[in-house]
Amino acid sequence: MSKKKESSELPLRMEGEREDVQERQTITKDYYSSRPKTFDTMLGGYTQVHDPDIQESSQLIQTLMKQFSGKLGSSYCLELGCGIGRVTKSLLSRYFDHIDINDLLEEYCQQTRALFEENDEKDKIGQAFVGSIGNLQLENFPKYDVIWAQWVLGYLNGDDLVQLLRKLKSTLKKNGLIVIKDNCVANGQEPEFDPDDQYYVRTGEQFYDIAHRAGLTVIKDQRSKLKQIVRELLPIRIFVLAVK
Ligand SMILES: C[S@@+](CC[C@H](N)C(=O)[O-])C[C@H]1O[C@@H](n2cnc3c(N)ncnc32)[C@H](O)[C@@H]1O
Repeated sequence: MSKKKESSELPLRMEGEREDVQERQTITKDYYSSRPKTFDTMLGGYTQVHDPDIQESSQLIQTLMKQFSGKLGSSYCLELGCGIGRVTKSLLSRYFDHIDINDLLEEYCQQTRALFEENDEKDKIGQAFVGSIGNLQLENFPKYDVIWAQWVLGYLNGDDLVQLLRKLKSTLKKNGLIVIKDNCVANGQEPEFDPDDQYYVRTGEQFYDIAHRAGLTVIKDQRSKLKQIVRELLPIRIFVLAVK
């Protein structure tokens, strides 16, 4: 696999990575829409990861709420790449009054909203932003206490991700946080790219660099325990970002 150092000065691509953003998105869309709308698809075939994933993230949110007691609000969350609402329903709806959702696939946003309609919790889901995180049109005012991005940011290249984070920054409330839970290659390893769905797996260093370029600072960097449960998984890290 040909490798690149991801930066704006070295715009080399990984093997199988499409240059054209639209083409890249079409491959991603085809990848998901040709698969069943299940946790298995959301979790790359490892459904058994769901419960421990939610438990671990739940502990993280509780820790953050305690750590920033009185400062971190719980009224509005934005979830990027919500998929079929796995995290929305099992995690975020327990901690936030309202959740705005985003996904590339309209059917996923619909399915996520439907989870709450069934249970007469219609107000839980606010706006649904259908489309790529790279094209998110958000109103530029502080709204979100937390922005949650799990296994989705690898669909953007580094420069586009910096742009996105800058945009998100302006929608965070004072003391608001961005949580990224993502695959992250082990220290000293090269980034990876999955041509099947066009997903880029960054190094920790790249996440730090991107956060810094976006004017954000990493206030928590936690290694997920999920790999201890399913050894085949790539290492997973949770970064909590705050405005500098
Ligand atoms: C691996 S799934 C994870 C879903 C969810 N975050 C979870 O953990 O269950 C990745 C999700 O990202 C969505 N996605 C892919 N490319 C995207 C993009 N450019 N913008 C927004 N969502 C995207 C896919 O449709 C899919 O729902």
